[in-house]
This record gives sequence, C-alpha cells and structure tokens, in this order.
Amino acid sequence: MAEQESWTSRIGFIFAAVGSAVGLGNIWSFPFQTASNGGAAFIVVYLVAVFLIGFPAMLVEFVIGRRSERNPVDAFADLGYGGWTIAGALGAFTSFATLAFYSVVGGWVLIYIVGSATGAYFGDAAAYFGSVASGPTALAAHAVFMAITIGIVALGVTGGIERTTKVMVPSIFVLLIGLAIWVFTLPGADAGYGYYLSPDFGELAANFATIVPAAVGQAFFTLSLGFSVMIIYSSYLGRDDSLPADGGAIVIINTLVAILAGLVVFPILFAIGGEVPEAGGSGTAFTALAGAFGQLPAGAIVGFVFFMVLLFAALSSAISLLEVPVSYVVQHYDYERSAVTVTMGVVIFLLGIPPAMGTGILGWYNDIVFQFLLPLVVLLLIVFVGWVAADLSADELSQGSSVGSSFTGAWLWWVRLVVPIAIVLTFLLGIQSLLIKGGVLASPVFLG
Ligand code: TRP
Repeated sequence: MAEQESWTSRIGFIFAAVGSAVGLGNIWSFPFQTASNGGAAFIVVYLVAVFLIGFPAMLVEFVIGRRSERNPVDAFADLGYGGWTIAGALGAFTSFATLAFYSVVGGWVLIYIVGSATGAYFGDAAAYFGSVASGPTALAAHAVFMAITIGIVALGVTGGIERTTKVMVPSIFVLLIGLAIWVFTLPGADAGYGYYLSPDFGELAANFATIVPAAVGQAFFTLSLGFSVMIIYSSYLGRDDSLPADGGAIVIINTLVAILAGLVVFPILFAIGGEVPEAGGSGTAFTALAGAFGQLPAGAIVGFVFFMVLLFAALSSAISLLEVPVSYVVQHYDYERSAVTVTMGVVIFLLGIPPAMGTGILGWYNDIVFQFLLPLVVLLLIVFVGWVAADLSADELSQGSSVGSSFTGAWLWWVRLVVPIAIVLTFLLGIQSLLIKGGVLASPVFLG
C-alpha cells in the first residue's frame, strides 16, 4: 500500500481547502446573485445558508476523510461499509468529469491574461469572447491549463498542492484587496456599491421561496461539497486537528473572498457607466468586465491583475479536482504518483475536447454535474454519516476538538434532518429551472 501522505501544517490544509472553495462561484456567482436578489438582504440569507447548511455538510466530508485516512473510493470499505463505495466512486467520478470542462474555463482565463497584456479584447469584448471561447484557441489553452494542473499534482500533496496553494491563496486575498482599494478611487464607483449592497427586503420577501434554495445551492457549490475533495483533503490531516475549527476558518475566509469580490466587480462596471449584466456567469466575466477594462485608465494592468486572481482561483480548484481520482489510483493500486497524474490528466484533457469546441456542450457538462451529481453525492454522504455510521461520525467530529457531546449530538441531528431537506429542495428547484430554460446553459455559474 502506498504510504499515506499528510499536510505539513494545519494552515497548509486550510489554504488548500480554501483554494478549492474559492473560485468562479465567489468571484462571479455570488456578487451577481447578491445584486439581483436584494443586495445586503440576500447576504444575510446567504450567510445563514453557508453557516447552517454548508458548514455542517462540510464536516460530513471531513469526518469520512479523517476517520478513514483514505481516498474517497476506498474510505467506505476501510470504515467497514464496503457497500457504500458507490458513494465515494460517484464523488470521484464527479471530480473527474468536472475538471474536463473546468479546465476549459481555466484556459479562457489564461487567454485573457495574455489578452490583457496585448490589449486583444479591448476593442470588442463580446466578439473577442466569441472567437476564443471555443475552437482551436480554447483547445490549446485547455491543454496548457491541464498541463499546469498536472505538474502541480504530480509533485504530491506537500510538494505540489500545499506549496502552491500557500502562495496562491494569500495572493488572491492581497490582489483583491488591492483592486478593491483602486476601484474605490474611480469616479462613479459609488453607484456600484449602492447597486451591490443596498438592502432590498421587498425583493427578498417577494421571491423568498426561490431565493432560499438558490442560497443553499450556492452554499454547496462555493464550498466545493459533493466532489469528495474535502474527503481527500481531510484524509491528510492529523488526528489532533479540530475539524469544526478548521472548517469554520475555511467557511469564513471563503465568504470574505466572495463579499470582497463584489466590492471590486460592481464599482468597475458602474465607473464606465456600462450596463450591468442580468446574471453573472463566465460569459459576462469575460465580456462585461473585460469590456470595462478596455475603457478604464490603466485598464490593461487592472485586467491583468484581475485575471491573475481568477487564474489562482481556478488553478487551486483544479488541483483539488485532479487529486481526488489520482489519490484513489495511487493508493489503491500502489502506482507511482507522477505516472498516474499524467495518465489521468491526459484522459481528462481528452474528455474536455468537446466542451472546448462548443460552449453549449460545456453547459451540458456543467448542468449534469451541478444539478444532479452534486446533490446526489451530498445526500448519500449525509445519509451515511448521519444515519448509517452515526456513532463513528460523532466520535470522529470530537476528535482533536474541544467541542462537547452536545455540539456533536446537535450536529448529528441537524445533519440527519435539516440538511437533507435543504438539499432536496435545492435539487427540485434545479430541475425546475432546467425545464424552464430548456436544459441548455441553465446554470448561472460558468456561462452567463
Ligand atoms: N467552489 C468553487 C467555486 O466557488 C467551484 C466548485 C464547486 C469546485 N465544486 C468544486 C471547485 C470542486 C473545485 C472542486 O467556484
């Protein structure tokens, strides 16, 4: 059996997990959901969803990972529940399939970093996006993005993932703060803050029934739950680490990045007096905002910095996605990590060719993963931790932590009863919106 790897420090784990969680969901989805759902009023609902539903669900993955100290596929058999292997396998498959199209979006970010330096998209941002988002340019960029991801994961948990996320995650924070300060000085920025944050409780009340499940869905999405990423990352943790404390830190940092991103995005859009796009997806990230960079003083530099932030966010998520299937093959078959990583990465690259050739196909991949696989996997894990292996779960949660049995008991009942209801509601809403929008490009996340 391959030797078990582990993080060199608690902070290494937190940075890696935050790196996975912080992504396009924070920088695009969240600000736009907030702006169109009642501003600061929505933030309150979102915070409730993240802390009351997302956080307990994250602990579910942590408990499985740290207890088994194994990859998500073999974890269940190791814990004595071999029949549940299917739940882990489904999670690993989800990661694998997601990376295929996530890497295409990562490729777009690379293209825009170069484009910021050369000013390629400054003229007609929408036309530029149309010409690079699919086809040969997109395919080449997808290949480069996959190559970087493979390079990092091949170097291992500490030498690759921990070392790079320790640089990328603080950089995201520092660069976003720098951008937020810079946009503050822009004339017209005030209107952006107003649009983003002014609380509209009327809007919230009128659409409460759809806003709440949307906030819950965003909570799962933004915390990268349902992909077994948090299972594998927590399997590399020491037994004296506190799962609730680490999980709390991850959730808080992830939320701060999301709120901060809105303080960058909206002032920029308003400073140029441009139209604010209805829904925020990558399409708008790469058209509306790119268009604004073309018109701003020092837009090339700001655009470059902004897309670097997106690159760090996308890369630190991509490596977590690749680590899930790689860890399984490395541990299960005892193969050499670098060989497994390259092989797996090439297969994922091939699977990413169709979405690189057409954004419609990318939308389908996206919908299947986030509307169906994600809720299904989370639900299975919750039933396992809450009902099937409850004793072991409660014991593992308190391990290394100062929380008492009343906390673990409350968590267990919460996970058994409340979290599944929230998931089923979100799932049904997802199906409904798929049907309404005809199924194609229904997800607001990657395409707008
Ligand atoms: N959390 C990421 C974001 O906010 C998106 C995401 C969801 C993800 N599930 C994931 C990233 C799994 C990596 C792995 O954008």
